[in-house]
Amino acid sequence: MTTIVQKINPEKFRDEELTSACKLLRQGEIVAFPTETVYGLGGNALVPEAAENIYAAKGRPSDNPLIVHIADREALYDIAEYVSEKAEALAKAYWPGPLTMIFRKKSKIPLSTTGGLQTVAVRMPSHPVARALIRLSDIYIAAPSANISGRPSPTKAEHVVEDLSGRIAMILDGGQVGIGIESTIVDMTEPVPMILRPGYVTKKMLEQVIGEVQTDPAILASEPAKHIVAKAPGMKYRHYAPRGQMYIVEGEQGKVVEVINHLAALREKEGQRAAVIASEETKNAYYCEHVYGIGSRKIEGSIAAGLYDILREMDKIGAAYIYAESFSDDRLGQAIMNRMLKAAGYQKIQAEGVRMR
Ligand code: TXA
Ligand code: MG
Repeated sequence: MTTIVQKINPEKFRDEELTSACKLLRQGEIVAFPTETVYGLGGNALVPEAAENIYAAKGRPSDNPLIVHIADREALYDIAEYVSEKAEALAKAYWPGPLTMIFRKKSKIPLSTTGGLQTVAVRMPSHPVARALIRLSDIYIAAPSANISGRPSPTKAEHVVEDLSGRIAMILDGGQVGIGIESTIVDMTEPVPMILRPGYVTKKMLEQVIGEVQTDPAILASEPAKHIVAKAPGMKYRHYAPRGQMYIVEGEQGKVVEVINHLAALREKEGQRAAVIASEETKNAYYCEHVYGIGSRKIEGSIAAGLYDILREMDKIGAAYIYAESFSDDRLGQAIMNRMLKAAGYQKIQAEGVRMR
């Protein structure tokens, strides 16, 4: 299959520019498109074959449910069996935007879209291209992130091309996305709504609107405990992982720099390629040949926005060892560290405990 890559300017485009994409979607084909979080891999949410095509293109286990994307709040009532007042309040506060909510599904939503579950994940994205695509195609778009299963989610169309060229009908290239990590997922079927995946909409932001919110214990665990199974099926898979060994180095900033310099130098001496993931503030303090400034600790969101691109870069340069600073102090900290720890397979180094001589 030849994949058509079509550029589209999110700030300024005409509806007609989406005509081919809409036609393909209505025919049951798969189209990748930008959202404010990451690129999605879209198909018709009400057509079982479309979901099957998505799973096949991604190489994704078919028990991992897809998110149904809608263009207006009313659509929720057509998809969800029951919408609580809390859910309505959250939709009012954070839709359109990077929030996904889980509801009991209506029977019109096929089980292939929900990975066999009786619940459905729903999100109303804010990205103008995503919204126009849903509205103009006049369907609900089921979309996971547009990466091969296990790879970091795509934050640029180039990432989608890398992973899926030849496997899908079309990629809408709307440039780099704004947020760079996936939406917050909240399970609204629980008596106390539960965060299944942390994201840009934080626990605090949710609690400001609906009061108490709990977090899936599997997310809070600093390492994957075997007895805690994540409630979002997708959270259980090894994700975002570069091929090299990745370590998160924690501790006081100066000490972290010292330890990473030491470890990277040891690897380089062994003839291994080492890479460092640092903040803009500290990147110049490293001697290693491959140092990546991921973003500034002072600019909210810049670290999230740069994370997946850098994780992909690690494979491109063939990094065998990756040492990353820890980024737990900003507002998005929990969401970022959740992704970074998974990428690192939960390998951490405490800088204080490393002896250097
Ligand atoms: O920001 C996003 O959410 C992006 C963009 C494209 O919208 N989408 C995305 O989709 O990240 P995906 O498929 O990569 O991740 C969806 C997650 C998976 O972990 C999946 O298991 C979980 O949502 N999920 C979907 N439906 C669910 C359900 N009914 N119950 C529990 N978890 C569900
Ligand atoms: Mg994904």
